Parts: sequence; C-alpha cells; structure tokens
Amino acid sequence: MSTTVRALQGDIVQLPVQAIVNAANASLLGGDGVDGAIHRAAGPQLLEECRRLGGCPTGEAKLTRGYRLPAEYVIHTVGPVWHGGERGEPALLASCYRRSLELAAAQGIRSLAFPSISTGIYAYPLELAAQVAVSTVRAALQTFADFDELIFCCFSARDLQVYQQLLAAPPGAQPSPA
Ligand code: AR6
Repeated sequence: MSTTVRALQGDIVQLPVQAIVNAANASLLGGDGVDGAIHRAAGPQLLEECRRLGGCPTGEAKLTRGYRLPAEYVIHTVGPVWHGGERGEPALLASCYRRSLELAAAQGIRSLAFPSISTGIYAYPLELAAQVAVSTVRAALQTFADFDELIFCCFSARDLQVYQQLLAAPPGAQPSPA
C-alpha cells in the first residue's frame, strides 16, 4: 500500500495523528522548542515515563505514550547539533528519521508527524536538513516501512515552502540520504 507523504504548517502537538516525533536532547528530560511544547501539552506523566528511559544517544529514538496529546505515542529522537557539517551531522540526522520510522513500524503505528529535527536550537540549516529528511523518509518507504500517512510538520511558512518544493520534485532530483 502506498503512503501519503505531505508537509503542512502547524503546531505538532495539535495534530490528530497516531504518533508525533519529538526533537529532544540526550537527557530526554525536556527542553525548549518543540520538546517544551510537547511536554507542556502531554502533561507531567510524559516526563515521568521519560525519566525511566535513561536518556537517548544522538541519532537514536525511544517511544513513549502521548498522555494528554491527541497523539497516542511520542517518538523521542535526538538530532545532531550543527557544527558545520563535517562531524557526521547528515548521517546522524538521517538516522533520527530512520530509527523513528523503524520504531513506529514495529509498534504498528499508521500515521506519524515529524518536526524539522535539529533546525531550531541545534542550528542545522533548514534546506540541508529538509533534504536529509525527505530523502531518508523516501528511502525508508522503499525498503521497510509502510504507513497510511507521514507528515512533515513545519512551524513557519518558509519551512513549509522548502519541504513542499522537495516533495514536489521527483525522488532522484535531490541528494541521496547520508
Ligand atoms: N510544532 C512544530 N514545530 C515546532 C514547534 C511546534 N510546536 N515548536 C518548534 N518547532 P527545536 P532542535 C520547530 O529547537 O533544533 C530543545 O531544547 C522549530 O521551529 O525544537 O532539534 C531540546 O530539548 C524548528 O523548525 O529542536 C534540545 O535541547 C524545529 O521545530 C534542542 O531543543 C526544531 O527546533 C533540540 O534542538
């Protein structure tokens, strides 16, 4: 079955999808940006569950319940901090998307929304990060993962434009995943 992949502008905590991805830090104990928004919306039980997970390395992902969120699950992944691109950032970012999709597939999740991981506080340039995001998701859909819907949830109109351009281009028209 084919998966619908689309981008929209919005607040990820409000999306009626089965799971949302959190751009967390290695402690998994909350922070600012989308992480702060998710913890505020989910309520204190999310932090309680996160405390039991023992953190998460960069490029990996861990699953919790969504508590007060419309989403049933949260997949917490830790993106790389941008240092100029020579410290493995593209491969680590690609791993965030791949590992999140693997966890979602293993849980039987049918619809999933991603924020633009690493492009806020972690300063990964949006265009470069979006290329990694779109190409990695497309590659995963070719090989292992089957979902009803995957959403790139963009916070700004500018981010949405970048994602929409990439999604409109044929798969071969962009650099392959790291
Ligand atoms: N819905 C969708 N996207 C959002 C939302 C929201 N409610 N809020 C922010 N964004 P960031 P990072 C966008 O900084 O760069 C935290 O403190 C935002 O505009 O949230 O991976 C963690 O604990 C940007 O496009 O995550 C880590 O310490 C994208 O989400 C650190 O920040 C990611 O921005 C992670 O930094």
